[in-house]
Amino acid sequence: MSLFKDKSGQSYDEVKYHTRQKHRFLEKYLEIWTQNVGKGQSPPTLDIVDLYSSSGSCFCSSNEEIWDGSSIISAKCLQNYPNGRNLILNSYSDDEMEQQEQVKCLDFRMNTLNLPPRIKRSLFSLKIEDAITEAIKLIDPRYPSFWILDPYQPQQLPWAQLQRIIDHNGSYRNSKGDEVTRLPELFIILITESLQRSSGKEDQMHFIDVALGLEREIWLDKLDKLNSQGMNTRQAMIEIYAERYQIFMVGDQLSMKLKELKEILFMQFFF
Ligand SMILES: C[S@@+](CC[C@H](N)C(=O)[O-])C[C@H]1O[C@@H](n2cnc3c(N)ncnc32)[C@H](O)[C@@H]1O
Repeated sequence: MSLFKDKSGQSYDEVKYHTRQKHRFLEKYLEIWTQNVGKGQSPPTLDIVDLYSSSGSCFCSSNEEIWDGSSIISAKCLQNYPNGRNLILNSYSDDEMEQQEQVKCLDFRMNTLNLPPRIKRSLFSLKIEDAITEAIKLIDPRYPSFWILDPYQPQQLPWAQLQRIIDHNGSYRNSKGDEVTRLPELFIILITESLQRSSGKEDQMHFIDVALGLEREIWLDKLDKLNSQGMNTRQAMIEIYAERYQIFMVGDQLSMKLKELKEILFMQFFF
């Protein structure tokens, strides 16, 4: 992805229009917190961690539309939710200049929101493994946290890192006095097109090893079996990831294929 700079010097993530689906879905999902949970008698605190934040705003050149990216959507949710607490953002790029521009614009946009003092904002520019280390230090796992994981490529979210987030869980007593494990809520975007492409190229297969956290022989064998059952490689890759993801299944899970996006969205949430 490249950044688009407008005449005033502001940069935006340059995206295709179908990316809007992802952001609309995120906005709608977070309304559960602002419109439902937040209207209750004593709403719990809510922390949001957006580990692939980028610049905070998107620009689509085909219709010149601009809309909020995941981090601004998250900030607005915490602003509207009465007990919003931590907003942890990570905006990183392998390209140092691009990273500087992303962070500058993200910071500017965050400042224009005038977030109330109850919201503690942290902004890192770290590779995912270090960003998770820092985020975990700030998150008390006994309370609700919502993690947005939206890398460009599946290998930029190694399975081992996802596991670290899930392992950061805590327990609390519910209204009946029972001890309940609190797991983080996850919003994961997985680019299936990339998994599909890499599965056919020997020199790219290590990306899949990392994204799935499986030995190559294991996922190749699963892929082979699913192909022979009539699934194409894309369907089979989604199936394998979904099956892998079941390990984390405790609460309700929603997985949704955003077909045009060539992406799949996985969500897991617990109330
Ligand atoms: C798809 S964009 C995120 C868009 C953003 N979530 C939004 O909706 O506005 C992916 C971001 O992840 C960053 N990124 C790529 N590799 C990364 C890594 N290993 N660790 C952390 N961030 C990474 C990219 O530079 C880019 O800013």
